[in-house]
Amino acid sequence: MPKVKSHFSCQSCGYQSAKWMGRCPDCGEWNTFVEEKENEERGIRWLGDKRSKGKPLPISSIESSQGKRIISGIIEFDRVLGGGIVPGSLILVGGDPGIGKSTLLLQSSAKISEDTGTVLYISGEESEDQIRLRADRLKTLSDKLLILSETCLEDIIPQIETINPSIVVIDSIQTIYTAQLQSAPGSISQVREVSCQLMNISKKTGIPTFLIGHVTKDGAIAGPRVLEHMADTVLYFEGDSGHSFRILRATKNRFGSTNEIGVFEMKSTGLEEVTNPSELFLSEMSAGISGSVVISSVEGTRPILVELQALVSYSNLSMPRRMATGVDPNRVSLLIAILEKRIGLHLQGEDIFINVAGGVKIDEPAVDLGIVSAITSSFKDKPIDVKTVVIGEVGLGGEVRGVTNLDARVAEASKLGFTRCIIPKIKKNVLRDAEIKIVEVASVAETLEVLF
Ligand SMILES: Nc1ncnc2c1ncn2[C@@H]1O[C@H](COP(=O)(O)OP(=O)(O)OP(=O)(O)O)[C@@H](O)[C@H]1O
Ligand SMILES: [Mg+2]
Repeated sequence: MPKVKSHFSCQSCGYQSAKWMGRCPDCGEWNTFVEEKENEERGIRWLGDKRSKGKPLPISSIESSQGKRIISGIIEFDRVLGGGIVPGSLILVGGDPGIGKSTLLLQSSAKISEDTGTVLYISGEESEDQIRLRADRLKTLSDKLLILSETCLEDIIPQIETINPSIVVIDSIQTIYTAQLQSAPGSISQVREVSCQLMNISKKTGIPTFLIGHVTKDGAIAGPRVLEHMADTVLYFEGDSGHSFRILRATKNRFGSTNEIGVFEMKSTGLEEVTNPSELFLSEMSAGISGSVVISSVEGTRPILVELQALVSYSNLSMPRRMATGVDPNRVSLLIAILEKRIGLHLQGEDIFINVAGGVKIDEPAVDLGIVSAITSSFKDKPIDVKTVVIGEVGLGGEVRGVTNLDARVAEASKLGFTRCIIPKIKKNVLRDAEIKIVEVASVAETLEVLF
């Protein structure tokens, strides 16, 4: 009897071992080892015939596909992709369950099928009539949008080759399996093998392929890490279940910036683009509440104004609580220490909570001055003027430091009708917009003097 080779692999990180283990020595997760049977020819096929046998060419003689990007027509989506979909690219889209991944791709597929050509949407999760139901709701019916409900890779590949669509969407990669491997769909080796084969087809034919991926409880795309290396672009679709807006973010992009974000609002008619996110994020702001401040965050090329709130209240605990949502908690601790040491605020016995309104996540030091102002405002119970935007990074000495894209931030604040902008004192001349009053500050103490 031929010997069936098998190994155990960690479903969390992909670590392989000849014997079963309770705990993965690589990532430390418990009970993640699953037996996977190997196919004898696997190694040969992986490296063999699928690789091109072409000879090396001078780089200048290779035809450039510049300008051949497929435009989906959804501006926010195109911008995150770096200005459209590059031919032959493999794009991974991840996100929490029910966040709207299928909706986003069904809407863009319908747009592309109308403007560019046939789109093949392969779903392993839903049946054809379920997708039709969604399409009816989204009003995305198009004759060139072909739906295939299929999970076996060997049946999918011939379809892609005969139809030769302008893009392929796989919803989701975890439900597709190849008959060449015996492990269950969604396991590490299946996901790796299926993605590798789809990538080969995509590179060979030049058809861009979207792979929808599930995420693990930590928020990373489920499956081997190698999946993210294989893909040209990795997008995450995020949002808060309590809010209707969704943010599309690129964490890797071989053909564009990873700083860009796309903002959408989920409605019963589908995802709607939000062209001016600041207006949306500030729409619920009310005047006269202490601890609330407007800050400016630059995402890619766009400054977005958002409301940041702090609540400082007396604590009965020996270790007061410090919680931050939307900003880095460590950064908040550091800023609290600066307020105590440099300004002399007695925050030791206070619980401090920080929240960025609308479930937005901000990861840049330019919001430091905003956090400091919000905490002080709540602590002193004095509201900050709602028509003021606070911008600046705070150094350990309590000094205010310069930030990037200051001009764009000030211009955005002016455009949205703010009357005052507090910015760091820098040597360079900032665009002096006539509409908005600019106050330059050199230290935290000076900022607080201006505000209160
Ligand atoms: N009639 C409706 N009105 C408003 N929103 C709706 C309606 N139907 C669905 N939705 C929204 O669409 C979401 C589901 O979208 P979708 O199926 O695209 O998510 P998904 O990310 O593909 O989920 P999964 O991971 O389960 O495949 C729901 O969570 C809900 O927010
Ligand atoms: Mg889905």
